[in-house]
Amino acid sequence: MAITDILDKQFIIFGGKGGVGKTTCAAATALALLPRKTIIVSTDPAHSLADCLEQEIGDRITRVEAGGNLYALEISAQNTYETFKQDHRREMLRLLESSAGIEHLTPRERDSLLSLPVPGADEVMGLKRLMDLMEEGTFEKYVLDTAPTGHALRLLSMPDIFDKWLNLFYKLRDKHRFHERAFSKPDRADEFLLSLKKSTAKLRNLLRSKTTEFVVVTAAERLVIQETKDLVSQLILFGIPVGHLIINKLFPDLSSDFARIRREQEHKLVKEAINTFSELEIIEVFLQSVEPQGIENLRRFASILYNHNDREAS
Ligand SMILES: Nc1ncnc2c1ncn2[C@@H]1O[C@H](COP(=O)(O)OP(=O)(O)OP(=O)(O)O)[C@@H](O)[C@H]1O
Ligand SMILES: [Mg+2]
Repeated sequence: MAITDILDKQFIIFGGKGGVGKTTCAAATALALLPRKTIIVSTDPAHSLADCLEQEIGDRITRVEAGGNLYALEISAQNTYETFKQDHRREMLRLLESSAGIEHLTPRERDSLLSLPVPGADEVMGLKRLMDLMEEGTFEKYVLDTAPTGHALRLLSMPDIFDKWLNLFYKLRDKHRFHERAFSKPDRADEFLLSLKKSTAKLRNLLRSKTTEFVVVTAAERLVIQETKDLVSQLILFGIPVGHLIINKLFPDLSSDFARIRREQEHKLVKEAINTFSELEIIEVFLQSVEPQGIENLRRFASILYNHNDREAS
């Protein structure tokens, strides 16, 4: 499978451990997809897309300056869910009250009921927003930049968990209906529940579609690779297509000009940091030839960290 196969997919998701280069790879991919009309979406609450693209983005579709046909969006799953709750307040209340078999609540009790967290609801709403965009068909390609592993796995597993909740509502409503009036007609809450079921099913299919790929980004460090293994097995377990692994930030061949240029850049940034953090003591630590793992390497690392005269790489 060539790396360029990724570019043939319609929906490309980037995930991996914190700081490995997910946002960078996602943004680079979005640019590689041009001139096809592309949107890069972030569901990472930390939203570093704006920093990466060096432009303000936020929770509405924004055209990327100098990006030709590239658009970006930073979705706040929580805000999306809040808006959804406001838009469907009546149906949601009806659903909650009838499932729990309680009626005639005071406005305050209703508010409390609505503010109870439903597992997965905000993640599902965030993904649903992306799916709605796909259905509108405004864009040809969709690139998703996720938050570090734990959060991304939560995001992807939520449609399944949310679906279990919806099934529970179905059962509770059936029971309620049986107790109340055995053969009452479906009401608005039933329609609402059904539409949520449909959206969730579509979302589950989308994540498992052949036109979707989850690209895993990692770094050549033992702990990162370990976490990557867990991520890949989880993705396979969920049935989400995964075919490529980017191992980022490898140390380059030092015979090139690379090290010199890199050092110059670093020097500049370190000088800036010394000025910016004038109240702090700055400790410079080199990228080590051996990963600081295991007692012996950690001792050596500690001596570098705590002995300012010895700042050389091991
Ligand atoms: N191959 C690379 N060479 C040099 N710097 C890189 C490389 N890849 C990424 N970076 C830099 O590393 C930093 C982290 O990258 P990025 O923000 O893409 O990671 P991330 O996985 O999205 O992080 P987070 O988990 O915080 O979202 C950025 O400053 C980025 O410019
Ligand atoms: Mg990121």
